[in-house]
Amino acid sequence: MPTRTIRSSPSLANVRYEIRGRLARRAQEMERMGYDIVMLNIGNPGAFGFRTPETMRLAMIENLRSAEGYCHQKGIFPAREAVVMQQQERGVRGVTADDVFIGNGVSELIDLTLRALLAADEEVLVPSPDYPLWTAAVNLNRGRAVHYPCRPERGFIPDPDEIESLITKRTRAIVVINPNNPTGAVYPRRVLEAIGCRVFEMPRHRECGLCCGAGGGRIWMQETPGAKERPAESRVREAAAVPGVGVLVVTCPKDLVMFQDALKTTGLEGKIVVKDLIELVDEALGGLTAQ
Ligand SMILES: Cc1ncc(COP(=O)(O)O)c(C=O)c1O
Repeated sequence: MPTRTIRSSPSLANVRYEIRGRLARRAQEMERMGYDIVMLNIGNPGAFGFRTPETMRLAMIENLRSAEGYCHQKGIFPAREAVVMQQQERGVRGVTADDVFIGNGVSELIDLTLRALLAADEEVLVPSPDYPLWTAAVNLNRGRAVHYPCRPERGFIPDPDEIESLITKRTRAIVVINPNNPTGAVYPRRVLEAIGCRVFEMPRHRECGLCCGAGGGRIWMQETPGAKERPAESRVREAAAVPGVGVLVVTCPKDLVMFQDALKTTGLEGKIVVKDLIELVDEALGGLTAQ
């Protein structure tokens, strides 16, 4: 049967998605040839044995029967309400379930928000190296991705002056990814000092850092099945034992939930609180998000 090539949309011309692109295809080819390839292009906690928390899995099973038909286009009401409550806990006021949209992962929401935000040729500042979806989604939505460098010799930390120098009248948004994917760089210490906080390190930090145990592909610590205490519990005990510390600062939504839970199970509630870095920035700005 004769075949013909179907022309793709010109809007795809500048769209690249290298984690599934040429390099990934070449790696697969080599795998088929018998090479042992370690694929670092996609982080998949599931592949390393991390399971969805039991309560969530049970809720999904329980609600399967009522999840066949369409739901509200913004997402089911209890889920949107839960997002509102989480945001209220972080000090964000004036948000109702009507303002919340649930998406199929971050990817879909990046696309939707950029589509709503960008006019033709408007610019979005994106870190380089970047998780390729951001550049692809800006280009796909008629915008122009302008990259600000995160140089290896600076520990992949961007230079705020350099970012500022790239801002033009056409700039609509700045993408900040912290902790960064793919470089793994985290920006909090400098940010914390800039807003007047005193930073105390826990005994295990930086190269010996330990996270909450909910993600990270077991990069930081091997979790022993059947262990008496979860990594999040050991970590909050460690934080509470540092003299003069009242706040455990995190930059990851999983850390926030896991550590808050661990405070309850270890009885350390009241001794120390867990806050996202952005909450401290918001407080230092006088609660801008509350206006
Ligand atoms: C910086 C960044 N943006 C977006 C995404 C996409 O998120 P999702 O898998 O929820 O669509 C990822 C996933 O790893 C990411 O690291």
